[in-house]
Amino acid sequence: MQERLISVELDDWQANGVDSAALAAALEDGKVLYFPKLAFAMSEAEQRFLSPAWSDGKAKNIGYDGAIDKLKGAQGDAADLAALKAMVKRYRESSINLITSLFPHYRQHLRIAQTSFRPSRVEGRVSSWRKDDSRLHVDAFPSRPNHGERILRVFNNVNPQGEPRQWRVGQRFDDVAARYLGQIGRPLPGSAALMNALHITKSRRSEYDHIMLQLHDRMKADPDYQANSPQLAFGFPPGSTWVCFSDQTPHAAMGGQFMFEQTLHLPVNGLHHPECSPLRVLERMRGYRLVA
Ligand SMILES: [Fe+2]
Repeated sequence: MQERLISVELDDWQANGVDSAALAAALEDGKVLYFPKLAFAMSEAEQRFLSPAWSDGKAKNIGYDGAIDKLKGAQGDAADLAALKAMVKRYRESSINLITSLFPHYRQHLRIAQTSFRPSRVEGRVSSWRKDDSRLHVDAFPSRPNHGERILRVFNNVNPQGEPRQWRVGQRFDDVAARYLGQIGRPLPGSAALMNALHITKSRRSEYDHIMLQLHDRMKADPDYQANSPQLAFGFPPGSTWVCFSDQTPHAAMGGQFMFEQTLHLPVNGLHHPECSPLRVLERMRGYRLVA
């Protein structure tokens, strides 16, 4: 399972001299790209933000929405919030720089989504098995159908006490799909239109979204899969960055505190190897198209 993690010697968010095609092939195959020397620099003054006290207590993360230039889920006075926002924004820019310099081909296709700063501890914040991210899962969100659009995430550990971000990384997406797809039925006729009309979903849920949610839930609800499927436990140390397609790579967050994360979206046709995407894998297995 060690091959699920590809280590890349890079210490600059502007990537130079990397084998872009090989890294894209690994990433799009569902591997985790691990940059042990790629730290996110925080100033002396910004060290004060390494505390859960900046979280407003309602949201589990502090989020930044670049489209409206707004920080959410944080509390503090105006000057502190402006400094906190500037730090999170800098992480967003660093992440975009990393991805577009590693994969110039993605540049024209990327849709930049939320940036998050996670000052709370991973352990002990679980409210239900479905929300328990210490269970291996692929990302799929009930209210946000994505019709096959990819979820690419850039993570960085900024823990000041040397504490690693503990993850488990699971087997290839094809193997997960092979394990569960036969058990997953088709969505009920009319259910997608109804959920959309009731605003349970933000757009109409495709059969692809239906299957991805089922995979997410079935993986988390399966103790045998959690305990016995091939997996790699790994601690990402402070000062390191890692990148994966979280809709494809089974992952579980087991422990740690103080992390940044940037989400980017990419259409399947923006990939180097669209045939490796969850959408195309599932369509091959089902034998028909899963998005209208
Ligand atoms: Fe996740």
